[in-house]
Amino acid sequence: MTTITFKVQPGGQLKGETRVPGDKSMSHRSIMLGSLAEGVTHVTGFLEAEDALATLQAFRDMGVNIEGPLNGCVTIHGVGKHGLKAPNRPLYLGNSGTSMRLLSGLLAGQPFNSVLTGDKSLSGRPMKRVTEPLAAMGAQIKTTEKGTAPLEITGQAGQLKSIAYTMPMASAQVKSCLLLAGMYAQGETSVIEPAPTRDHTERMLSGFKYPVKRNGNKATISAEGKLTATEIDVPSDISSAAFFLVGASIAEGSDLMLKHVGINPTRTGIISILRLMGASIEILNEREVGGEPVADLHVVSKPLKGIDIPEELVPLAIDEFPVLFVAAACAEGKTRLTGAEELRVKESDRIQVMADGLILLGVDATPTPDGMIINGGGVIGGGTVESHGDHRIAMAFSIAGLRANAPITILDCANVNTSFPEFKDIAKHLGLALVCEENKVQ
Ligand code: S3P
Repeated sequence: MTTITFKVQPGGQLKGETRVPGDKSMSHRSIMLGSLAEGVTHVTGFLEAEDALATLQAFRDMGVNIEGPLNGCVTIHGVGKHGLKAPNRPLYLGNSGTSMRLLSGLLAGQPFNSVLTGDKSLSGRPMKRVTEPLAAMGAQIKTTEKGTAPLEITGQAGQLKSIAYTMPMASAQVKSCLLLAGMYAQGETSVIEPAPTRDHTERMLSGFKYPVKRNGNKATISAEGKLTATEIDVPSDISSAAFFLVGASIAEGSDLMLKHVGINPTRTGIISILRLMGASIEILNEREVGGEPVADLHVVSKPLKGIDIPEELVPLAIDEFPVLFVAAACAEGKTRLTGAEELRVKESDRIQVMADGLILLGVDATPTPDGMIINGGGVIGGGTVESHGDHRIAMAFSIAGLRANAPITILDCANVNTSFPEFKDIAKHLGLALVCEENKVQ
């Protein structure tokens, strides 16, 4: 096994232009829907990182012929809605919650059984949020006693019943899981969300010409319809761009252009929050690519101020809080995050892990059950922090180095490869003094 440690020298600024890799959520969905389509789907801009590749491998294991990825290009020979084959081994989904939760819905209504497994982090994450509503539809899914993976799914082809489900939390994974199950259920399945969450599933289903109705906070689907192969151009992932949006905002003298970034309004909470803090982010050259809005983002450094983060922005920035906490540490005054208890069940407990690391670096941070209070504007010191194998924690503490007064060492960074393998190269190229050390351990 190899462990990866990031070492960041303090200071520097981010300058230049870059295009970060493809959107993770859309990459997963392109493989899922392309596999279920009739005909050949071409994907460009596909994210060649472990999470999306886990989804790709799962569909190969279910008999789908998928070529690539090669330079972000993937060709999927769709097998049609009823063409998946029984996998002859458990589907291993690594670190990817999106793969596991969406697949549980899709596989619940198949004419074969399947088992979904994952790594240590994924095996500790809550799955009842999907297995309970799926059970109400007639699905047969066994979890551990704690409601975690492995998931043992006994396919109920033709037996699933529709549901009208009001989600107790704002989760795009739960919504998407139930919409995929709804494609195999009798009657109309509706999912009602308590607050807007990313809508890539609904948009991409429409792109594949599968009927899905959207009415306010409700999305409705049925088994009537088929997916027709299409072309998908995946834009850059705003969740990866987020590290550089914050980095360029906090490092004096920075001037950065991030090209071709997906700016779907269900994902732009990071821009809204940073702007409320005083950041300078221009949205340029707005256009639509394959049903998703895309733009170039120009960011220059600006002094930030602390704010109370509006709760309605939380689901729209849900993956960006690790790096937003770093922005808050650099902002003058108090930043308060509330209504974000979901952060405790991400790849790590992102409230606790970020608070521990920030405190170790000398930041005045207080974790709360549903968020954090940070008194920013003080000094960020150096030290060795734990990422707990969480990709976004590792990248967030790397960005903190831009404003630290001593080196920061970040342990356990191998999982950066789950979403952004090019992070260290792009960050170095733009001006972050990051060194990546690989150590073999027995
Ligand atoms: C995702 C939804 C979000 C997000 C995750 C990707 C998706 O999870 O945190 O990284 O692709 O649907 P939740 O649905 O748990 O909020």
